[in-house]
Amino acid sequence: MSNYPIGIFDSGAGGISVLKELVKILPNESFIYFADSANCPYGPKQPERIIELSNCITKFLLDKGCRTIVVACNTATAAAIDFLRGNYNVPFIGMEPAIKPASLNTKTKSIGVLATAGTFKGRLYIETSRKFASDVNVCYQIGEGLVELVESGMANSEESENLLRKYIEPMLDCNIDHIVLGCTHYPFLRPVLEKIIPESITIIDPAPAVARQTEKVLKENGLLSTTQNSPSIELYSSGSTKILKFLMEENLKITATTSINYVDGISACNA
Ligand code: DGL
Repeated sequence: MSNYPIGIFDSGAGGISVLKELVKILPNESFIYFADSANCPYGPKQPERIIELSNCITKFLLDKGCRTIVVACNTATAAAIDFLRGNYNVPFIGMEPAIKPASLNTKTKSIGVLATAGTFKGRLYIETSRKFASDVNVCYQIGEGLVELVESGMANSEESENLLRKYIEPMLDCNIDHIVLGCTHYPFLRPVLEKIIPESITIIDPAPAVARQTEKVLKENGLLSTTQNSPSIELYSSGSTKILKFLMEENLKITATTSINYVDGISACNA
């Protein structure tokens, strides 16, 4: 009988965009989410520090009984997933910048990628671009300041619109027809983004593909839930859970039988 919760973590609330897709296709699973809000953003941090933080969070999630971990953060995936896979004997599912679908489907031979500095520096981004986008013009942009706006509940604000305009206009000049959201916080900016870009541009959010991959990995490892108990979602933050609560209520359709619990101020590294 398997009733292990699935662990999921991010530098903050961005991973809720992934949790949303996971809950959709895995409604019987329980989840434990860790938001490292006290250390957010990860984007400008050195890879060594991100490995250290991801390692603490992984230990925390394993101690809570998780047997599968979704690294719902592109930046943490870029810096730490090789380390985590090399040091723990549980499956890790990471975020991959969706360069492949964008490159395969572009007609203008030009795509936009919006991500953090840490993600662009990672092996995964460099290798994926080399492999799939060698004949495509990649117009890339570090989304500095966007994570902070989402974290402060200002995804739908004039500030977000102004900053996004600054980042997206050069991409429009590049004649892109696809834009890849390379950070799990960015799907929350989608309504503002849609105001800025023409309808002909396809926005690619990798979260649904990551949720499908998680389901596949759970099946392969015999870890799909087999209990009749109602699922639960526990959300921990090293800072405040206020934004987690807000985004959960705005974005997730949770069944009435699912119990949801929020815990503030948990430091994974000292827990
Ligand atoms: N959600 C994280 C990501 O996908 C945000 C990174 C950050 O904290 O800067 O990369």
